[in-house]
Amino acid sequence: MKLHKHFSLRALNTFGMGVKADWLAEIVTVEDIRHVLREPDLQHLERLVLGGGSNILFTRSVEGIVLHNRIGGIETVREDDDHAWVRAGAGGSWHELVEWAVERGLGGIENLSLIPGSVGAGPMQNIGAYGVELKDVFDNLEALHLGTMDMHTFRNSDCAFGYRESVFKHALKNQFFITAVTLRLSKKPVVNTAYGAIAQELKRMGVAVPGILDVSRAVMQIRRSKLPDPAVLGNAGSFFKNPEVDPEVFERLSGLHPGLVAYPMPSGKVKLAAGWLIEQCGWKGRVVGHTGAHKDQALVLVNYGHASGTEIYELALQIRNSVHERFGVLIDLEVNVY
Ligand code: EPU
Repeated sequence: MKLHKHFSLRALNTFGMGVKADWLAEIVTVEDIRHVLREPDLQHLERLVLGGGSNILFTRSVEGIVLHNRIGGIETVREDDDHAWVRAGAGGSWHELVEWAVERGLGGIENLSLIPGSVGAGPMQNIGAYGVELKDVFDNLEALHLGTMDMHTFRNSDCAFGYRESVFKHALKNQFFITAVTLRLSKKPVVNTAYGAIAQELKRMGVAVPGILDVSRAVMQIRRSKLPDPAVLGNAGSFFKNPEVDPEVFERLSGLHPGLVAYPMPSGKVKLAAGWLIEQCGWKGRVVGHTGAHKDQALVLVNYGHASGTEIYELALQIRNSVHERFGVLIDLEVNVY
């Protein structure tokens, strides 16, 4: 395990915030975590578990220790005629896991291609895109309890998955370090092209009978055309969640705003496109100081190079207030603000 003092986190968060951590430990094995937690000089410090840093906005330095999850590895641990159970280290790259699966003809996560971040962030916020969510293929995860240092296994039903939600963001927040994730992938994949943009992209590509590689390529193309690459322009994907409202609220709003973009949910609620709400308030493409809402996707806040975390957070609150004033709807933050 490598330990660093006064470490800049700039390269470890996709917003590119140059905040410092008093300490940073590179965690490569489960034993590394126990080692840090037992070290007399380190064990009482404030701790922050960091994966790919793709869903966090730093507004201050870390006066404590960052446990940087770098536990890697991908292996098939079980198979039957229809499925393969694939276990991946939680500190590995999510997209590399998708590529690994697609190359082997294992289906289920191709719609989740190119999502920035680590494997462990998958269950943490039940990542989702283009009609698929992690919970659809999630089998179990292994995690170390930061207090007792015991390992626990969480099955799908233990994780309380919801829209960008899990038990690890609520009741068990900051209690566990996720070390490995096992997915149940299909050996006989049935592609999911229900999301309009995928069907359009496949048509453009001239693919009539798509396989999982085609879907993965289509998703990558859509993401590249709509979402800024964090390596070029700092961002953390959607900054807000799409709000879910009662049908009566939807009826009233759609009467007032005929263009309202909305999706009915199985629960009976209606999900509104926050990007549309924000765009209507005039924020899309608007630059405020060193930050702003992206020109192609208003849900994404970007760092034009020198923004501070506080500046971005303040913009987020301003956007939230203006959506509330105009539509009476509150949009929750998707990104964790530290
Ligand atoms: N829209 C606008 N203006 C905008 C952006 C969107 O009018 O500036 C409207 C358009 O009608 C568009 C619709 O909103 O058709 C939906 O937009 P999009 O397909 O880009 O999806 P989204 O709801 O904005 C969600 C996820 C994304 C995920 C996409 C695709 C959330 C918070 N975001 O965005 O996830 O990639 O769907 O499935 O649910 C992320 O979580 O970081 C993320 C990028």
